[in-house]
Amino acid sequence: TAEGFEAAFDAAVAADERIEPRDWMPEAYRASLVRQIAQHAHSEIIGMQPEANWISRAPSLRRKAILMAKVQDEAGHGLYLYSAAETLGTGREELLDKLHTGRQKYSSIFNYPTLTWADVGAIGWLVDGAAITNQVPLCRCSYGPYARAMVRICKEESFHQRQGYELLLALSNGTPAQHEMAQDAVNRWWWPSLMMFGPPDDESAHSAQSMAWKIKRHSNDELRQRFVDICVPQAEALGLALPDPDLRWNEERGRHDFGAIDWAEFREVLKGNGPCNEQRITQRRRAHEEGAWVRDAAAAYATKRRAGSVP
Ligand code: 3HC
Repeated sequence: TAEGFEAAFDAAVAADERIEPRDWMPEAYRASLVRQIAQHAHSEIIGMQPEANWISRAPSLRRKAILMAKVQDEAGHGLYLYSAAETLGTGREELLDKLHTGRQKYSSIFNYPTLTWADVGAIGWLVDGAAITNQVPLCRCSYGPYARAMVRICKEESFHQRQGYELLLALSNGTPAQHEMAQDAVNRWWWPSLMMFGPPDDESAHSAQSMAWKIKRHSNDELRQRFVDICVPQAEALGLALPDPDLRWNEERGRHDFGAIDWAEFREVLKGNGPCNEQRITQRRRAHEEGAWVRDAAAAYATKRRAGSVP
């Protein structure tokens, strides 16, 4: 009976067991996972654009190789996540169409420009650092394919974060102009990185249900706080200031207090009015159109292979 299936699902989630693609699951659970995993995948793919802007202008071959590896990783993360979404019965074409037509989102963070080389360091340190803080708990998500994709993605993210930190350290300890470039990038990327964790808990539409299903393991504000507490000593080690005059250690809380986030800016970016929204989605649509021949060729080859007419 449906009640039996529901009870078995609830018992599995309560027992911290993994829900697998063939298991019965509430339609709302499936829909929320498709929503989150697809938007996570879209974020990875769109996230290639800001950094790709600097691959041809990296200051050394070493930096160029690192950045190419990172951008390539982001594409791979997107593919893992689209594959995880497909286990829920949705096709990649359908999800990409929703991205291209604005019916699904990608992370707000990728709607900001990368104005100098130091932005590559700030993105690695802050954006990938925030992604790690958000993604490590997702390794314990109740849905098996998503949790397993996260384990591999988190390993690669730690390389992304470390190369960004090391890049900023080199600039911060460089000439005064290089130090200033690093500080300017941190000034521009700090607050948008805090917005990556989502709206405040009391404005989060999905958190309560997502946490009941053990998809989301910690609230938006809890992970944001965790990220701030991680970044403060790292910023000190970098010799760079975080652009928040209200940031200070609160002995009583054992956490850092920090200033108010500009949620009006966050809402504007989500509405499509961020600095680079139009540019990012236009570039994405163009890449999809220009890549049609690759998809057709791969599909034709797959058909021939199934027919045994090619090795
Ligand atoms: N950007 C865009 N949309 C956001 C957002 C952000 N920073 N934060 C929240 N939203 C959206 C949510 O998607 C939801 O809209 P929807 O109903 O259309 O999906 C709405 O705002 C309300 O937010 P909620 O807190 O209620 O939504 P969630 O419970 O889904 O929490 C989340 C938001 C914490 C981002 C969660 O979806 C999540 O953990 N997602 C997986 C991680 C992820 O997507 N990270 C994005 C960055 S990927 C990345 O950084 C790659 C790295 O390699 C650089």
